[in-house]
Amino acid sequence: MCGIIGYVGCQDAKTVIISGLRRMEYRGYDSAGVALVTDHGIEVRKKAGKLKNLEADLAAHPTPDSHEGIGHTRWATHGGPTDENAHPHLGPTGRVALVHNGIIENFAELKAELERAGATFLSQTDSEVVAHLVENGVASGSTLREAMMAAVARLEGTFTLVAVDAQAPGSVVAARRNSPLVVGVGEGEMFLASDVASFIEHTREAIELGQDQIVEITATSVDVTSFDGSPALTKPYHIDWDLSAAEKGGYDWFMRKEIFEQPKAVADTLLGRIGPDGSLILDEMRIDAATLRSIDKIIVVACGTAYHAGMIAKYAIEHWTRIPCEVDIASEFRYRDPIITANTLVVTISQSGETADTLMAIRHAREQHAKVVSICNTNGATIPRESDAVIYTHAGPEIGVASTKGFTTQLVACYLLGLYLAQVKGTKFGDEIHSLVRELEALPAKMEEVLKDLGATLDLAQQLHDVSSVLFLGRHVGYPIALEGALKLKEISYLHAEGFAAGELKHGPIALIEDWLPVFVVVPPQGRDQIHDKVLSNIQEVRARGARTIVLGERGDEAAASYADHFLALPTVPTLFQPVLAILPLQVFSCEVATLKGYDVDQPRNLAKSVTVE
Ligand code: F6R
Repeated sequence: MCGIIGYVGCQDAKTVIISGLRRMEYRGYDSAGVALVTDHGIEVRKKAGKLKNLEADLAAHPTPDSHEGIGHTRWATHGGPTDENAHPHLGPTGRVALVHNGIIENFAELKAELERAGATFLSQTDSEVVAHLVENGVASGSTLREAMMAAVARLEGTFTLVAVDAQAPGSVVAARRNSPLVVGVGEGEMFLASDVASFIEHTREAIELGQDQIVEITATSVDVTSFDGSPALTKPYHIDWDLSAAEKGGYDWFMRKEIFEQPKAVADTLLGRIGPDGSLILDEMRIDAATLRSIDKIIVVACGTAYHAGMIAKYAIEHWTRIPCEVDIASEFRYRDPIITANTLVVTISQSGETADTLMAIRHAREQHAKVVSICNTNGATIPRESDAVIYTHAGPEIGVASTKGFTTQLVACYLLGLYLAQVKGTKFGDEIHSLVRELEALPAKMEEVLKDLGATLDLAQQLHDVSSVLFLGRHVGYPIALEGALKLKEISYLHAEGFAAGELKHGPIALIEDWLPVFVVVPPQGRDQIHDKVLSNIQEVRARGARTIVLGERGDEAAASYADHFLALPTVPTLFQPVLAILPLQVFSCEVATLKGYDVDQPRNLAKSVTVE
């Protein structure tokens, strides 16, 4: 949700900022802009649409030399995606330029107040108001940092702000509340950005910032305080991946590359968490065993794809631990007034670690004294910082807007957590845990097998990319996979797609079935007699009404194959682990359909990867 960057150092600022924005374009692509501090004041260039529009403008109208500046790539909230609403925004005389990620909730009052004092505004954004506040501060004698502190004291909402002052070259000042911001520490240069990917080609040393902090960078220094000016503790860290992880590496899309990275991502997520005897080692669970044993209820909270991982986690956690487990969409969680006690464990799942709804759910849970464990892919993000414990997924950077390796690694982290709780509570014997752990360890090779045998899936994409609607059915853990398969197709192919619990279909949605409507059905492994057979009946119900059935089932499942117009075979795994395999052809199918339709797979319309507004 908007990518922002600040730079000061020895390199050409425009080049550094544009390449940083390119790596953050997944965060929003409604417009892009830069403000460069030059010997002749601040030069601002901004353009509606994707970054390439701004690049074309910069190529046509070169900017003067600059070694300091800020940049922004926007996901529109206040004001449409126009040149005027693009960031950076300037103060009244153009002395201060500012970029913003988040929402200023009281901007209308502030704007009215400034207008009464004679200000005029060029955009409909909430952000321009802050540029005015900060510039008014420096105009009345404050330093940029003091002016930023005074401005944030007046703001309500969520924000990361980054600003430069034409009359104070050599420093960039930022403020952070509830939106991401990290510092990149280079040699003779410093960076501020929403995501480390934007400066990874220059440095792998970073500093995590906390909530309500102000940071000022110069080429050689980083100075962090809290909003009230008191010194703040910072946490330096080394980024353990490099530039190649943030590049497409020969693939047409980041999404496709990330789909094929999944076996390794899953293996990396398991690494170091399994002892030689097959027991679970979760050193990062900073919640002691006695507290874990007292847990009498678990609530999994997440959004979107991560929520689908949470739905699957519920089946595993309840089955292994016998602790009642609920699953909530994060944006609904607080508002249903959930029953939370000190014995409740809240498990949040978030690839980015910055999703605002999930973060607010964590705060709500902690206010009620629940313990919070987060499953997260982003080191040092806000969600892990605010949780009691964190289980990191080791997927590496996920840049495609549609989550793929984020999802499968979240599933694996949920399995690890469920088995760990079973181990601590003693609800499973050691040898049972051991045998499940061995199945987990076998998953990467089985995922490779699925990803090497995609001919049928690619053929299907060729045949089906022009249909107007696709349904997905599943039962048990196949149901969240049906939802996730449909979500993937909706978000990148803009196709109408719906996922249903297979048994629920006859309670209404079966009316949607018409001749040759493609219906994907996830069939559980044959060992689960009851569910397996029930799903086969559901396939027959839709077939009888003319649907074209695409069945994902265990290799050798002749019964399932016999009801399939197309059969996609999966290696044998325990039912609870089947989602890790079943989702792969569905991800590939949607990526391929979107490609055939000529859509931008990595930057689907209206979406942004990291949703930092509620
Ligand atoms: C879908 C997708 C989204 C995210 C959701 C949560 O492909 O990526 O549905 O899963 O916005 O994001 P995180 O996991 O970053 O909290």
